[in-house]
Parts: sequence; structure tokens; C-alpha cells
Amino acid sequence: MSFATPEHSAPTTLAEYWDKYRPGRQRPAAHRFDWTGLADGGPGAEILGEPKTALDLGPAEGENAAFLARSGVEVTAVDFSAVQVDRAREFWNDLPNLEFVHAEACGFLDQDDRPFHAIYSTWGAVWFTDPDELFPRIARRLAPGGVFAFSHREPGPDQYGPQQMGGAWLEGREDELTMLRWQYTAGQWSDVLKRHGFSNVRARVLPSPERGALGTLLITARVAACGGAS
Ligand SMILES: C[S@@+](CC[C@H](N)C(=O)[O-])C[C@H]1O[C@@H](n2cnc3c(N)ncnc32)[C@H](O)[C@@H]1O
Repeated sequence: MSFATPEHSAPTTLAEYWDKYRPGRQRPAAHRFDWTGLADGGPGAEILGEPKTALDLGPAEGENAAFLARSGVEVTAVDFSAVQVDRAREFWNDLPNLEFVHAEACGFLDQDDRPFHAIYSTWGAVWFTDPDELFPRIARRLAPGGVFAFSHREPGPDQYGPQQMGGAWLEGREDELTMLRWQYTAGQWSDVLKRHGFSNVRARVLPSPERGALGTLLITARVAACGGAS
């Protein structure tokens, strides 16, 4: 089964762009939950507490979702790339408590009214979606006492707010796509999150093992007592 669209066919939407992410990969081991993508022994699933249910926004291959499902969590994982969803379903069809949904994150949160004890995103949809659109929807779906956590690459100097991504299909072609990613300092994320009803915001930078490389920014937050889903 082939999961990648051909190299030469240019994507016409952002979802199609992600169809081309990590082609031809084997099923990952999913031995631990990984916020950095580097299997570097940093923080893992304990960041999420002990949720009964969890929502992964932008799982791609679904490694973290699979790790949680194997630990007994009921996991829903939402990705707008049809290719990533097909591949993840194929990889993890032995895990009955893991569901992959093909949907855009905001659209899913508008239509599905289940509360989740943990909502997370590792270098996923949270990085690539306007937080003013996404965060109110997440706040509504987070069960009381639940945790919202996400990670993305630590921003470089002056790379704050919506940043245009470069690379194949994103620059230098007539049919180029515009892809934005939203990244902030810890303090700026704290302000954005509080504006949308979150509290207890914590941030940490997980340094890259590669000398001079940017690390991973990991943010956790909770909803104020009266804010979230019941
Ligand atoms: C860089 S990959 C990260 C994958 C995975 N979380 C990981 O840690 O390796 C980003 C994923 O987010 C998905 N994504 C981006 N924006 C999205 C959105 N608005 N709704 C749903 N999925 C989205 C992409 O399709 C892609 O699979």
C-alpha cells in the first residue's frame, strides 16, 4: 500500500501538502510518548496526568496516540491529511481504543461535542492553526480539571506570531501554497491562552541535543473552573 502522493504532483491544499509528510515509513515502535520527535528521553505522557480520554490534534503517523491507547486511554486522533489518516489506521488497527478521524481540527471540535480529559498536539495542528480560532474550541471540549498541552519548535529570535513557512511547494513556484505556523515565546503563549480562558499555564524549553539547534517549546494549561466542557 502506498501512502504518499507522487513527488511531482503539486499539492493544491494544505491538507494535500501534509499528505506528502514522511512517505514510505514503517510502523513506529511507540514505546514512549515523545514531545520533541527526537526520542531524547525528555518528558513523556506524565505531562497529561492520568486521562481516561484524550484528543490528539494532528497525529500524522499516530505514534503518541498509539502509546497512550496501549496505556489504556481512549484516544481520538484528528488529522486533515487523508494519506496520514489512512496510514495511521493501517498501522494501529490492533488498538480498539484508538480512533483516527479525517477532519480539520476546528471543524472536528465544532461537530463533536465529547469532552476530553486531555487535548494535546505534538508539533501538530496547534502549531499550524490560528489560536484565536482553535483555542476557544479546545477550551469548550476540555473536561474540568483536564489538561491542554502542545509542543512546537522553539521560535528563533523575532520569529513570533504567524510565520510563513518555506520549502518545497511553499515558495518559488507559481502554484505555491501559503502555510502559516503560529509560534510565540512562553510569555506570549501564556497571554494568548489566558485570553481564551485557560489558567495554570506552564512552559518549558526542551533543549535540542544538537549543538546550536533550536529546542522544543512545551506548553501546558488548564481551563478555569467554569470554562470547559462538563
Ligand atoms: C509536523 S506533523 C506532526 C505529526 C505528529 N504529531 C508528530 O509529532 O510527529 C503535523 C500534522 O498536523 C496535521 N495538521 C496540520 N494542521 C491541521 C489542522 N488544521 N487540522 C488537522 N490536522 C492538521 C498535518 O496533517 C500533519 O499530519
